[in-house]
Amino acid sequence: MTTAIVGSQWGDEGKGKIVDFLSEKADFVVRFHGGNNAGHTIVNDYGKFALHLVPSGIFHPRTKCLIGNGTILDLRVLLAEINLLKQAGLDLSGRLIISPRCHLIMPYHKLLDSLYEKAKGEGKTGTTGSGIGPCYADKVSYHGIRVFDLLDRKLFSEKLRFQLSLKNKIIAALDGEPLGLKEIETEFLSLAEETRSYVGEVSEILFAAKDQNKNVLFEGAQGFFLDNDWGTYPFCTASSIVPGNINAGAGFPFWPEKILAVVKAYTTRVGGGPFPTELSDEIANGMRERGNEFGATTGRPRRCGWLDLELVRTSCRIMGATGLAITKLDILTAIPKIKVCTGYSLKRKRVGYLDGDANFLLKVKPIYQEFCGWEEDISEVKTYQDLPSNAKSYLEFIERFVGLSIILVSVGQKREQIARRGLPVFY
Ligand code: GDP
Ligand code: IMO
Ligand code: MG
Repeated sequence: MTTAIVGSQWGDEGKGKIVDFLSEKADFVVRFHGGNNAGHTIVNDYGKFALHLVPSGIFHPRTKCLIGNGTILDLRVLLAEINLLKQAGLDLSGRLIISPRCHLIMPYHKLLDSLYEKAKGEGKTGTTGSGIGPCYADKVSYHGIRVFDLLDRKLFSEKLRFQLSLKNKIIAALDGEPLGLKEIETEFLSLAEETRSYVGEVSEILFAAKDQNKNVLFEGAQGFFLDNDWGTYPFCTASSIVPGNINAGAGFPFWPEKILAVVKAYTTRVGGGPFPTELSDEIANGMRERGNEFGATTGRPRRCGWLDLELVRTSCRIMGATGLAITKLDILTAIPKIKVCTGYSLKRKRVGYLDGDANFLLKVKPIYQEFCGWEEDISEVKTYQDLPSNAKSYLEFIERFVGLSIILVSVGQKREQIARRGLPVFY
């Protein structure tokens, strides 16, 4: 069985929690794109973690975690995360494998990320500042440095010297402080030794897994509307988020049997860009406070608003979703009237997401449908049937509108806070 877990909104839907929950029966959990711009929060018996690079299946002792070639690596972040997990008592030996084809996020990528943002001023993207855009730009323009290169001291030093000579010119032109070669070289050659034992060809492991009928779970990062092609460009990220990228980003040539779209019961976004259902009132403040809507990577407050089903329906269609996992339904408890966006209007005409670009989306007005809320505490509900009837009406409207079944409803941060719908754990 192959399942992909993907974000259907602007990221932070609760993918990490769902992956941690579903990984109990997974033999492999695989990242295939993005970098440490991702922050996947997990709350289980080991404690609370925000994972940026290590796949969220790592807490299950028989699950192997693979980082595919489409992922870009900040080795400082990766190794700090590995140490944190070891300190929490996890045994990672033979359970974390990193593709040698992964590109490295270098210190100049991070610096360029912040200098480009500064240069953009008001119109900045609002990146996580992790060097994602500059690193992927180097990858596609043949300037990247990969794990392969790092493992060859001489080659690495040569590539670094050349790149730094180019990058320092750009840095200086943008009024940044040029970076020193020796310091980076020494640090990275030491990081190389710490990384070496984790490196292995991920695609071969996945071929064997397919042959042996293993359960493989692909862990998407970000969300569809941050996708470099389909998102609200240029307010997006640099990678391709859609399941089609599993082939390119992990070397796995089969379409996943199940594609589970994670949908937060309302909408959030961090950084700049259009957000038609955004609220700036007490309801938004309540969502932010109760939902702890602060970035897992940067700590920035997340913008909050009503659920936008025009967006969710679009992302589910293009990603080929086969089912939905709703998260954070508990955060809507005690809101008397809950609104859901079912489309947009512009100049008295009904329009949709695909009718325009980010500028167009800034101008549209959401069309809302209103639902009665519920007062009951749902955070301990274990089965779908036991949810309040108003909550079920809300969920069933989502199902009908999107045309997909809800498989799981998450009602709290912890692993066990999930209302199931009578299906096996490995969906
Ligand atoms: P991800 O990037 O998609 O993995 O999501 P994040 O971890 O960045 O953000 C989701 C936040 O919501 C985290 O703080 C999670 O612990 C939390 N969370 C996930 N599911 C639920 C839920 O059902 N209820 C509540 N209250 N919190 C949740
Ligand atoms: P997870 O996996 C939410 C957003 C940033 C910014 C834009 C570009 O936790 O859902 P980048 O650093 O990628 O160049 O920033 O994308 N962004 C995310 N927002 N969740 C994420 O990941 C994100 N990864 C990037 O806030 O708007
Ligand atoms: Mg996140």
